[in-house]
Amino acid sequence: MKLLHIAAAAALTAALLPTAGVQSRAADDMPLLRADVNGDYLINSQDMVLLSKFLLGAGELSSEQAQRADFDSDGVVDTFDLISMRKSCVRNAVNDPQGTFSAVGGSGKRWFWFDGSSEGLLLRSDTVTPFSFSKWGDSIDITLSAGAPASAAISWLDDERFYLKWGNSSVELLTRCDTERFDKGLYLSGEYVSDKGKSYKLGQFSGTCGGEDIAILPLGTKAQFIYSDGTVKTGGFSRSDKYHFTLDWDDGTSEKFTRREITVKDGITYVNGVLIANKTYSLPSTYAPNGLTAEFNTAFAKMQAAAKQDRMTLGICSGYRSYSYQATLYNNYVARDGKAAADTYSARPGHSEHQTGLAADINYAGDSFNSTPEAKWLAENCHKYGFIIRYPKGKESITGYKYEGWHVRYLGEELAGLVHDSGLTLEEYFAIDSKYSY
Ligand code: DAL
Ligand code: ZN
Repeated sequence: MKLLHIAAAAALTAALLPTAGVQSRAADDMPLLRADVNGDYLINSQDMVLLSKFLLGAGELSSEQAQRADFDSDGVVDTFDLISMRKSCVRNAVNDPQGTFSAVGGSGKRWFWFDGSSEGLLLRSDTVTPFSFSKWGDSIDITLSAGAPASAAISWLDDERFYLKWGNSSVELLTRCDTERFDKGLYLSGEYVSDKGKSYKLGQFSGTCGGEDIAILPLGTKAQFIYSDGTVKTGGFSRSDKYHFTLDWDDGTSEKFTRREITVKDGITYVNGVLIANKTYSLPSTYAPNGLTAEFNTAFAKMQAAAKQDRMTLGICSGYRSYSYQATLYNNYVARDGKAAADTYSARPGHSEHQTGLAADINYAGDSFNSTPEAKWLAENCHKYGFIIRYPKGKESITGYKYEGWHVRYLGEELAGLVHDSGLTLEEYFAIDSKYSY
C-alpha cells in the first residue's frame, strides 16, 4: 500500500517536472540570466567565485561568461557587477512569486498561479491542478495535491520574469501575465451580462453562468469556461474598455460581455457605482440634493470657459428639479399633450435626471437648440469636461426619450470619455433598460 502510494506520488511529481534536457535549448531562445556566470541557471556561490577570481586576476572568463557577468551591460566586468550579483542573490531569496505567470521551456505551455502565501494552481490548456508551495531562500518546493514535492531554484531576471531550474536540470522561464490576463484585477472578475442574454458572475478561476457553477481558466489570451456538465468553451479574449470584453468562442460565435453591477442604496440605483435615473430606475421622492452637485458645477464652469474661447455661450436654463416640481411639470404636459406624448419628452416624477443634481439643460430646452452652433459644440466637446448628451438622436427607443441636444449628464471625465468613444447611450453602455413598468 505504502509503495503504491509512493509510486503515485512520484508519477504526479514527474507530471510537474518539465521534460529534462531543455537547458541546452533554453540558452538560445531564452533571455540572458545576468549574474549567472557559469550559465547553469542558478545564481550562487559558484558564480561569485568565478567573478571574484576574475576580478582578482586569478581566473579567466569565456566571452559568454563575461557577457553574463556584465550585469549592467556596460561592456566591462568590474566590481559593480559583483555588487549587482549580490543584489540578485538577495532578490531571489526575498522575492516570492505571486500572481499568474506563463511558463515556457518545459513540456508545452503552461501557467502557474501563486497566491500570496502557499497555494497555487498549475494550469494547462485542458487541466487545472492545485498545488501547495513553500519557498525558502531561492528554492521553491511545489507539491501537487497528493504528490511528492518537486524543488526548483528561482532566479529573477526582473520583477516580471524568473527562471525555474528544476531538480532534473530542466529550465522554465516564467513571465508574469496578470496584466495580459487579468487586466490589473479587472480582467474577467465581476458581474456581467452578455449579448447572448446570459448573466455571469466571474471570479478569477470560478464563477456562475445563469446561476450554474463554472470553472474559469484564463489561458494566455484565451479564456476557457468549463460547465458542470463537462462542456468546455474556449474563447479568444479581447477587451474594448474597462466595462466591456468579447470572447470569440472557438465555435466561431462571439459573445460580448458588459460589466453590470447593480446596487441599490437608500432606494437609489447605482450601476457600476454610477447613479442612474431613467424610466426603469427611479429615485425616492425624498431624494433632494437641492441643487446641482459641486462636481457638476465645477465641471460646468470649466466647460463654459472652454466654450467661450470658441466664442460659444453656454448657460443653464434648467438644472436641479425637485420631485414635486417635476410632478408639476409632467402633469402640465400630460394635460396639454396627453400621457403618451408627454412620456416621450418629460420624465415622470422620480424618474427625471434633473432630480439627481447631475443633469441640466443648456441654453434652451427645445428643438430649435439642436440646430445651434452651441449644440454642435456640446456634442463634440462636452465629454472632455465629464458630460454626455444623455438623449442622442436616433436612440429614442433605447433612452425612452426623443433627441435632446441640450440635456447633459455629468459622469466624470473618464466615464464620459468612454461612453462618448463607444458611440453608445448610457443605457447601451451599461446594458440597462429604460422602460416604465407602470
Ligand atoms: N426631459 C427629460 C427627459 C426630463 O424630464 O427629465
Ligand atoms: Zn433635461
